[in-house]
Amino acid sequence: MTFPVVGMVGGGQLARMTHEAGIPLGIKFKLLSDTPQDSAAQVVSDVVIGDYRDLDTLRAFARGCDVITFDHEHVPTEHLQALEADGITVRPGREALRHAQDKGVMRAKLDAIGVPCPRHRIVSDPEDVARFAAEGEGFPVVLKTVRGGYDGKGVWLVRSSEEAAEQLFDRRGLAGVPILAEEKVDFVRELAANIVRSPHGQAVAYPVVESVQVDGVCDTVIAPAPDLDPELAGRAQELALRIGKELDVVGHLAVELFETADGRILVNELAMRPHNSGHWTQDGAVTSQFANHVRAVLDLPLGDPRPRARWTVMANVLGGDYPDMYSAYLHCMARDPQLKIHMYGKDVKPGRKVGHVNTYGDDLADVRERAAHAAGYLRGTITE
Ligand SMILES: Nc1ncnc2c1ncn2[C@@H]1O[C@H](COP(=O)(O)OP(=O)(O)OP(=O)(O)O)[C@@H](O)[C@H]1O
Ligand SMILES: [Mg+2]
Repeated sequence: MTFPVVGMVGGGQLARMTHEAGIPLGIKFKLLSDTPQDSAAQVVSDVVIGDYRDLDTLRAFARGCDVITFDHEHVPTEHLQALEADGITVRPGREALRHAQDKGVMRAKLDAIGVPCPRHRIVSDPEDVARFAAEGEGFPVVLKTVRGGYDGKGVWLVRSSEEAAEQLFDRRGLAGVPILAEEKVDFVRELAANIVRSPHGQAVAYPVVESVQVDGVCDTVIAPAPDLDPELAGRAQELALRIGKELDVVGHLAVELFETADGRILVNELAMRPHNSGHWTQDGAVTSQFANHVRAVLDLPLGDPRPRARWTVMANVLGGDYPDMYSAYLHCMARDPQLKIHMYGKDVKPGRKVGHVNTYGDDLADVRERAAHAAGYLRGTITE
């Protein structure tokens, strides 16, 4: 029996959970991780410790794999090109991945294919930020580094060109990375339309979810998005499927959206890998985003994306000041037998995503309360 080897670049929690999803299929999993302590490196048996920014390391790693896929979008584009030139199967491929690596490239492509986005353009200096503001609704303006951001790091809300200068342009370390300016969208909420697409061109769309951010970090995801107009939900799914097709994405594609008061949806950003807004699928969908990502990169038929319960709520567990999370399991599990805890094996540091919980049921208010309670209790912000 020969089972394929999936090579995962990056040792974070997404890699850990993708590995978990491949186990029942007997898929062999090989990991390239920065350190042996990384979330996935703790649980995968076949681990190479090395730097994904080094082409020789990537090449040596890829040699033993049938397909390469990713836990993050930070592998240099030229390295992806070199791997593809070597004949390595890279999924999603370099051409697709460019759009998730660089917010400037992503915006240009979405404009070209007629996908609605916030008003935006690349800005060169603080005076240019003021001009951008004057071209539209004025300040505040959202500024983003086009590359390297995550969890809101790399996103600034500025109220003046002076503030832009202080917060970004005067600081070291941004040299060379272009800055994208965007209108501050006055959204009613944030949604995500997640799909999975295979090289065959088969695609599945998950129900559109609501994602609630706190301080720029995803806090809660509600599946499906409550009270979402079915017509709008259908449009969001079609939009995500169209983006997946136009960009030739393989694997999981998360399309982060803003819903506006007048019933429009604007694309915030794209992620071409399993995504926080899809964690609910582990316990709330027939086939999880991780299982479908594995299927997609191997070009297997995709699994059913439909929900198992009326409502599923995911709440992220952030590190608190109290490091002994395990001692909280007793109370959380006793309180909610439907609770599913997913911990990443990461050191508990304040504000860091160290795990998440999923729970489900028929009564949304009750399901939300149970998820928020468990996440808060694990973090130590709720004590009873
Ligand atoms: N143009 C905008 N108008 C209003 N709010 C915005 C805008 N762009 C971003 N935001 C807010 O900032 C959050 C983070 O922005 P974005 O998703 O671009 O950054 P990121 O750090 O790459 O994200 P992630 O946490 O998904 O990795 C968004 O979820 C949204 O709440
Ligand atoms: Mg985002």
